[in-house]
Amino acid sequence: MEKPFLEIDGLSKVYPSPEGGDPLVVFENVNFDINKGEFVCIIGHSGCGKSTIMNVLAGLDTATHGAVTMDNTEVAGPSLDRGVVFQNYSLLPWLSALKNVTFGVAARYPDWSRKQVLDHSYKYLEMVGLSGGAEHRKPSQLSGGMRQRVSIARAFAIQPKLLLLDEPFGALDALTRGTIQDELIRIWSGSDQTVFMITHDVDEAILLADRILLMTNGPYARVAESVVIDIPRPRERATIIHNDGYYKIRNHLVDFLARRSKDMAGKEDIVPGQRIEPLEVNPAKDGGVISEETPKKTPQLVPVAS
Ligand SMILES: Nc1ncnc2c1ncn2[C@@H]1O[C@H](COP(=O)(O)OP(=O)(O)OP(=O)(O)O)[C@@H](O)[C@H]1O
Ligand SMILES: [Mg+2]
Repeated sequence: MEKPFLEIDGLSKVYPSPEGGDPLVVFENVNFDINKGEFVCIIGHSGCGKSTIMNVLAGLDTATHGAVTMDNTEVAGPSLDRGVVFQNYSLLPWLSALKNVTFGVAARYPDWSRKQVLDHSYKYLEMVGLSGGAEHRKPSQLSGGMRQRVSIARAFAIQPKLLLLDEPFGALDALTRGTIQDELIRIWSGSDQTVFMITHDVDEAILLADRILLMTNGPYARVAESVVIDIPRPRERATIIHNDGYYKIRNHLVDFLARRSKDMAGKEDIVPGQRIEPLEVNPAKDGGVISEETPKKTPQLVPVAS
């Protein structure tokens, strides 16, 4: 059987306690796979470890235990195959918006001429509505939403195999958000790109995702469910709510956030050495549950060095 494009295996993140008390186990035994070309969203309460997981996938942070494999290669550092939009849309402050984009494009396509790099970068800046002068401003001279759009243009312009998006539309007004969501879907559907996106917005997740991963609250957070969204594409913001399954899915997600994320939290479910797969569910179908949790043997968790 073909291996999944992205494999997250037995991931945990532990921070030592600053006061010498118990270490903080942010999440433990996080396991999931993402197939090539899939669009996966992840939802969970603040502090459960979503950005940390994304930074580990990006190769910018390391997990305490476990491994991430992309294209059969273990992720061990950043790569131009992975484009990241950070939650705080970090840009290089000394470069203009345009240069923040061309910098990545020139690194990604070293054989391109200056004009090719510029044309390509402008295409993505225009896509996010940032041209006509604003592109020459430094990040400090841009609004939060504008900075977020530069960050989106920069990540999309390097056409990475994997797009990692951390609440990429959080600072945008509803109209701009809708436009850029549509652009994201257009770019993604015309490519074999894989997307992993963090969002707090359940409606956004249902509109965009093939699958939504649900994380329980921390500490000892884990990915508890993988919710399949098989609403046919193209999906329209205005009409998707009329799909038969829409509210079943929405209620399932809202119930998870309001109740189950808390009820399922804690370490008591964790059996050392056992891999706990997220429960696969399709709330739009009768019964809903596709797979029961199937623990698989994995290497024993090693105690954290103190
Ligand atoms: N350097 C650190 N030392 C100790 N704890 C840390 C450190 N960095 C992050 N944490 C903790 O790790 C947890 C997970 O943080 P993370 O930013 O991944 O959460 P998140 O799910 O992205 O939250 P949000 O939805 O608010 O963005 C938090 O409880 C945070 O306090
Ligand atoms: Mg975060």
